[in-house]
Amino acid sequence: MSVENIFPTKVYSTFIDNVDEVQNEISAIINRVDFMPSGKARGDANKITSVQKDAIKDYGLDKTYATIQNHLKIYCEELDFAFRPFRLYSWFTKNEPGDYLQIHHHNDVDITGTYYFQSSGDDGEFFFESPVIAAPHSLCYSSQHTRIYSQPKTGKLILFPGWINHGVLKNNSNNDRIGLSFNVSFMR
Ligand SMILES: [Fe+2]
Repeated sequence: MSVENIFPTKVYSTFIDNVDEVQNEISAIINRVDFMPSGKARGDANKITSVQKDAIKDYGLDKTYATIQNHLKIYCEELDFAFRPFRLYSWFTKNEPGDYLQIHHHNDVDITGTYYFQSSGDDGEFFFESPVIAAPHSLCYSSQHTRIYSQPKTGKLILFPGWINHGVLKNNSNNDRIGLSFNVSFMR
């Protein structure tokens, strides 16, 4: 007899061990970051920096970049994917009280992720939607393939495939949450 979990989705989550270094680097520039409404076209209510630019590059966040790269390597090992050169685009996000982020995915980027620069831990849960979209048709599976929540918290880094649907619940706290999000595309 054999029962196997087939088609698993690996999601990476960690609290970085050099949090002081990264926090100090971002703290030094965060007051210069211009946030703007992300726009109703995407159905979002949070604020972001321009996705046409690269926040890490524009603000010279070299230590943050190196940290993300180190964790990307570990994630790729877990995925049995041979690490190779990549392009990374990054942007800051801000969820003020009442803000949320509608369910979306990042199209064809290989890996996407977020580093939480400022989060009290109760300012709106991040969630993944099950990619097993047909599961609700089976009574046996409908309760096993729902949402998986990931609680934001300062110093936490998450990495996940760009194709998985995700969103953020409404910020019901009195605090602003600030994250640094990024898309990674490996060279073909
Ligand atoms: Fe996203």
